[in-house]
Amino acid sequence: MSAAAKFDFSGARIIVIGASRGGIGAAIARAFQDAGGTVEITGAEPECLPEDAARFPYTQLDVTDTDAVESFAKSRGELDVLVNCAAITKRGEEMDPEFFQHVLNVNLVGSMRCAKALQGALAKRQGRVINIASMYARFGSPQNPAYGASKAGVEQMTKSLAIAWAPDGVRVNAIAPGFIVTEQSARARQDPTFTDAIEARTPLGRWGQPDDIAGLALFMGSDASQFMTGVCVPVDGGYSVV
Ligand SMILES: NC(=O)c1ccc[n+]([C@@H]2O[C@H](COP(=O)([O-])OP(=O)(O)OC[C@H]3O[C@@H](n4cnc5c(N)ncnc54)[C@H](O)[C@@H]3O)[C@@H](O)[C@H]2O)c1
Repeated sequence: MSAAAKFDFSGARIIVIGASRGGIGAAIARAFQDAGGTVEITGAEPECLPEDAARFPYTQLDVTDTDAVESFAKSRGELDVLVNCAAITKRGEEMDPEFFQHVLNVNLVGSMRCAKALQGALAKRQGRVINIASMYARFGSPQNPAYGASKAGVEQMTKSLAIAWAPDGVRVNAIAPGFIVTEQSARARQDPTFTDAIEARTPLGRWGQPDDIAGLALFMGSDASQFMTGVCVPVDGGYSVV
């Protein structure tokens, strides 16, 4: 197969969990569809953005609800790519143990719930799981301790699932985005000192856009990465190497 053909997703089925608000999940979903894939998306809200409602079947799916996740997965017979993108964070409010636990439940256990529920469907197509981690998997963050712990868990879970599911030909990788302009980062971006400091430290000199993440997702979802499993790759404009 030629290198270009590996990025043709015609005939492939892709689910992006957490793609309702026009952020990273939506950019990944659009990229897979533009590459020929059959894509459906989910989110916590009753509806996704109108432009994505016109493009994708949408399901409201709370990833903390095991029954709902399992019933969603049951009707999906075979799957080529699962992207786990659903997550929450509340800068400055994550020291409360109950909220801490909730963040872990959405970001970490939610990703595990979806992956486990769709494992059989993925195994039928030698599928690929792409978990969205974060730079905060590796850095401490006094404002987002739950988020950081959850994303460190996502990175670690990626390694374990990669080993566990390799015998079925299912590959499991993760992406660690840097600072990206989305609804989730809107609260943090209200603080100009914070936004300026990030720009100043980032070698490429800017915040990322959701589309900046999509290329690696296509690569991880394609046969171009067929000997890659269990890794977490940063896409952060160089922030983490400074
Ligand atoms: N924006 C950034 O700077 C940044 C950086 C690193 C990693 N990320 C990660 O990228 C992913 C996408 O985030 P984004 O920035 O595009 O934000 P976003 O707000 O656009 O997307 C978050 C998605 O998670 C969904 N979600 C939230 N709670 C849910 C629940 N209980 N059940 C199901 N879905 C739920 C929302 O509906 C939404 O679709 C997340 O995993 C996030 O942690 C973002």
